[in-house]
Amino acid sequence: MADSGDLTSLLLRVEAITKNFGAVQALKGITFDVERGEVVALVGDNGAGKSTLVKIISGVYQPTSGKIILNGREVHFPNPAAAHAAGVETVYQHLALIEELDVADNVYLGRETTKYGVIGRMMGVLDRRQMRRATAAALESLHIKIPAPTMPVRMMSGGQRQAVAIGRAMTWGRQLLILDEPTAALGVEETEQVLAMIERLRDEAGMTFLVISHNMQDVYRIADKIVVLRQGRHAATLRKQETTMEEIVAYITGAK
Ligand SMILES: Nc1ncnc2c1ncn2[C@@H]1O[C@H](COP(=O)(O)OP(=O)(O)OP(=O)(O)O)[C@@H](O)[C@H]1O
Ligand SMILES: [Mg+2]
Repeated sequence: MADSGDLTSLLLRVEAITKNFGAVQALKGITFDVERGEVVALVGDNGAGKSTLVKIISGVYQPTSGKIILNGREVHFPNPAAAHAAGVETVYQHLALIEELDVADNVYLGRETTKYGVIGRMMGVLDRRQMRRATAAALESLHIKIPAPTMPVRMMSGGQRQAVAIGRAMTWGRQLLILDEPTAALGVEETEQVLAMIERLRDEAGMTFLVISHNMQDVYRIADKIVVLRQGRHAATLRKQETTMEEIVAYITGAK
C-alpha cells in the first residue's frame, strides 16, 4: 500500500469543495486525499453529500467553489468525457449495462464507432472480433472471472454484471475508479466476489478506488481509509488500522 507520508503517492486531492443547488448547500467545504493504490470509502447518512461529491469528481457537476487536484495538477472536468480522458471512471449503482449486448459490446459501449468512422462500421464484424479478443484479454489480465465475452448481459447474475461494469471501468480508468454502492443490489456470495475483486485489483494491479457504501461490514473490510460526510460537511478521515466500526458509525450519526 502507498505510504501516506510520501507526497509522490498522492493521486487525488479534494480541496475545500462546496456545492450549492439553489438555496441548498449540499457540500460545505470538503477536503481529503486519496493515495495511489488505496481503497478510500466515502460514507455518510442519506443526503450527506456522497453522490454529489462523486459527481463533481467525475465531471457530472461543477463545484460552486474549491479545487480538484489530480497528480499534482488542478483539473476542471466540464463533463464526464473530460474525466474519462483523465483516467477517472465511475461505476454508478444502476450499472448502465445494456441487457441485450454482450460483454465486449458493453465494455466498448460509446467508444467503438467514433474511433473507426464509416469504414470501421462497414467492417463491423472484424471490429467486433477484435473487441471480443481485447475484452477477454483485458478481463483475464485483471483476473475478472466472467463467462464468455459473447454472452449477453441479461443472462448474467448481479455479481457477474458488477464484474463487467468494473471491468469496463478498469479498461478505461487508468487513474481512479469510483464505485457508487457496488454491492447494494447483490447477494452474500456475489458481494464477496466483488469485494475480493476490489482487493485483488488494489493489491496486484495497484488500482486506486473511491467507494461509496452504506454497508459498514464491507467498508471495514476493504477500506484503507474512511472519509465520513455529515450533512454536507467533512466529519472525519479515519485510517482503518486506527479506528473501529463503532467510531465510524458515531461520526456518521453525529454521536461524535
Ligand atoms: N440536483 C440536485 N438539486 C437539488 N438538490 C440536490 C441535488 N442533488 C442533491 N441534492 C441535495 O443535496 C444533498 C446531498 O445529496 P446526495 O445525493 O449527494 O446525498 P448522498 O450522500 O448521496 O445520499 P444517499 O446516501 O441517500 O445516496 C441532499 O440534501 C439532496 O437533496
Ligand atoms: Mg447517493
